[in-house]
Amino acid sequence: MTRFLPPALPRFIGALAWRRQALSRPLALMLAGLSLAVVLISCATVTRTVVAPPSIPGATFIGSVACADCHEKLCQDFKTATHAALQAKGPNATEVGCESCHGPGSLHNESGGGPRTILNPKKSPEVCFQCHLDKRGEFHSASHHPVLEGRVTCGDCHAPHKGPAVKGGSTASLSESETCLACHTAQRGPHVFVHEALREGCTVCHRPHGSVNAKLLTQRNATLCLRCHFQQQQVGGRVVIGGQDHTAFLRQGTCWSGGCHEAVHGSQVNTSLRY
Ligand code: HEC
Ligand code: HEC
Ligand code: HEC
Ligand code: HEC
Ligand code: HEC
Ligand code: HEC
Ligand code: HEC
Repeated sequence: MTRFLPPALPRFIGALAWRRQALSRPLALMLAGLSLAVVLISCATVTRTVVAPPSIPGATFIGSVACADCHEKLCQDFKTATHAALQAKGPNATEVGCESCHGPGSLHNESGGGPRTILNPKKSPEVCFQCHLDKRGEFHSASHHPVLEGRVTCGDCHAPHKGPAVKGGSTASLSESETCLACHTAQRGPHVFVHEALREGCTVCHRPHGSVNAKLLTQRNATLCLRCHFQQQQVGGRVVIGGQDHTAFLRQGTCWSGGCHEAVHGSQVNTSLRY
């Protein structure tokens, strides 16, 4: 993180922490917010290309062409990968391509692929965060996929070497759901009463990396469902959803709690997805 900050910033934040004791609470909070904003802006303005590539002690960059000697098939496929855009040409561009994720490859090459001579992001997502800095924060959210904990990897859902980086393609939500269903078999069905919402993929309701809301939900209340289910506001403050008067129901909790539509992914017994 510090590497992305202008050199003076940590000192500025340190000074701020010290001064906070002497400041009134609202002012201190405002300044803390300001310093956070500065950090965020400084991160956001780092363009991907100026980010330092990962390093391996004693190794130098040899360029992607060298990798093809031993990883021929993979290098061939890589032409179709989203990250092939990283491969630039020219004498000053050797550190891009394969080595932007795997680190400099000279020792690995010389040792004929010896152990511990090259980075494998499967073991740590840190290399990904160098360019996708915002993702680190997402995995720190209250509800998140346990990637930093090492139980799920970026590669479980993303294809670094071939085709679209978002497995299944970021537009084809049905095949994208297949990625999720490989681990979450309970949501697969088949259900007697299917919830049509799932045809639009899991990410209409879930954020894939992390969320401030429980269960990775994009929204924590009825807003989640009302996006697709039209709510009619009637005279006298009555609320009608799906042709049913929901005025009293909505006071009990939100759509899927309080015993209303607990089977949000589909039901075997109830057409209204009750359980
Ligand atoms: C001289 C042959 C050779 C060259 C050149 C070579 N590799 Fe390898 N590489 C191997 C061998 C052998 C292995 C270990 C067996 C395997 O997993 O296929 C390996 C394994 C790997 C691994 C997995 C390591 C692990 O710990 O899981 C990565 C990543 C890798 N190579 C990347 C690269 C990259 C990037 C380049 C180009 C900079 C490259 N290799 C060039 C032979 C080579
Ligand atoms: C966007 C980052 C990224 C780039 C660019 C990249 N790789 Fe990888 N590589 C990965 C990840 C992530 C894994 C671990 C895959 C997994 O989780 O199974 C990996 C694994 C590997 C492995 C181990 C065997 C395997 O398939 O799991 C080899 C070998 C390898 N990469 C070679 C290469 C070569 C050669 C290139 C360039 C043509 C390249 N990589 C470009 C991210 C990348
Ligand atoms: C050297 C910088 C760099 C590294 C390292 C890197 N990426 Fe990327 N990534 C990019 C760029 C550039 C794009 C293309 C963005 C675009 O075309 O909009 C991209 C695109 C993506 C996308 C697709 C975005 C989309 O909208 O379709 C995913 C997913 C992704 N990267 C995941 C990863 C993962 C996982 C890793 C680690 C294994 C990784 N990246 C490592 C630079 C990087
Ligand atoms: C549980 C599956 C899953 C894991 C694990 C995962 N991703 Fe993603 N990621 C997705 C999905 C699905 C999308 C497409 C977003 C959408 O459709 O709304 C995505 C989108 C992205 C994008 C492009 C869109 C954006 O939000 O900027 C990047 C970059 C990315 N992921 C990086 C990463 C990195 C880096 C890691 C590991 C630290 C990672 N992802 C781990 C599922 C995952
Ligand atoms: C590699 C396996 C794997 C893949 C692929 C995967 N997940 Fe997960 N998912 C997990 C694990 C592990 C947890 C954490 C469960 C726990 O902490 O008990 C989790 C947690 C969740 C949770 C929160 C559950 C809770 O109790 O808080 C949701 C929702 C979820 N995943 C949805 C998805 C979606 C949507 C996708 C596809 C974009 C997906 N998952 C892909 C393994 C996976
Ligand atoms: C219409 C919105 C919606 C869609 C689409 C959706 N989910 Fe969910 N999902 C929810 C809600 C709401 C909850 C929370 C239910 C609860 O707390 O009782 C949830 C909970 C979960 C959980 C946690 C289950 C548990 O027992 O704690 C997982 C895992 C999950 N969803 C996976 C998926 C997967 C995989 C997909 C795609 C195949 C998907 N969801 C599509 C709304 C949705
Ligand atoms: C992406 C759009 C979408 C989202 C989001 C969505 N739904 Fe649906 N839902 C549908 C569609 C389409 C149908 C089938 C057509 C219909 O009955 O309106 C349906 C049907 C239903 C039905 C069955 C109605 C019946 O009696 O046949 C219930 C109950 C339901 N949804 C509840 C929910 C709940 C609860 C949520 C929030 C967790 C939710 N929906 C979110 C699209 C969505």
